[in-house]
Amino acid sequence: MTAANRALIAATVAAVVLVTACSTDSGPDTSETVDFLSLVGGTAPPVPPLDTSAIQRGETVYQQHCASCHGAELQGVPDWKTPNADGTWKPPPHDSTGHTWHHSDQLLTDIIRNGGGFPETKMPAFASVLSDSDIADILDYLKANWGEQEREFQWQVTWQETNR
Ligand code: HEC
Repeated sequence: MTAANRALIAATVAAVVLVTACSTDSGPDTSETVDFLSLVGGTAPPVPPLDTSAIQRGETVYQQHCASCHGAELQGVPDWKTPNADGTWKPPPHDSTGHTWHHSDQLLTDIIRNGGGFPETKMPAFASVLSDSDIADILDYLKANWGEQEREFQWQVTWQETNR
């Protein structure tokens, strides 16, 4: 077995573990499982640096539009893994303890623009409120608060989706 094959298998196993963890955590959010498995198979260039002023703008927009539900410190609701009595979901954290970082920029942008994407969602659609550059700034703010591994993982997923 070549080193490249071994690396690919290791990456696939890691992806399956993460995807499994994601789907048990989040109930509504299984949409990316199939997508992601078909993505594994290349290596992204190094994680690009973030722009400090974008992070600052993103923080301002986040605090104004998102913090009331997702928490001023990105912490979400403490028992976010337990659904509400009516079967709806609570706002998850956007820091490294959540699963936001499992998703590509493209998917996150779509969720923020269009809302949660299932009938009982409580995640509002922001397409008429926020510009695409506001949303990109929010993503930079979230990324600035992730650990190195979460950031690396999310960059891989984003890169694979753009370059497949
Ligand atoms: C009214 C409360 C509320 C507000 C305000 C809100 N959200 Fe949400 N959000 C939720 C809930 C609840 C969920 C969980 C899934 C669902 O119900 O669709 C969610 C889910 C998400 C997800 C998917 C989470 C994941 O980890 O897969 C993202 C991304 C997200 N929100 C981003 C944002 C951003 C960015 C803002 C501000 C522009 C925002 N949300 C504002 C309630 C809210």
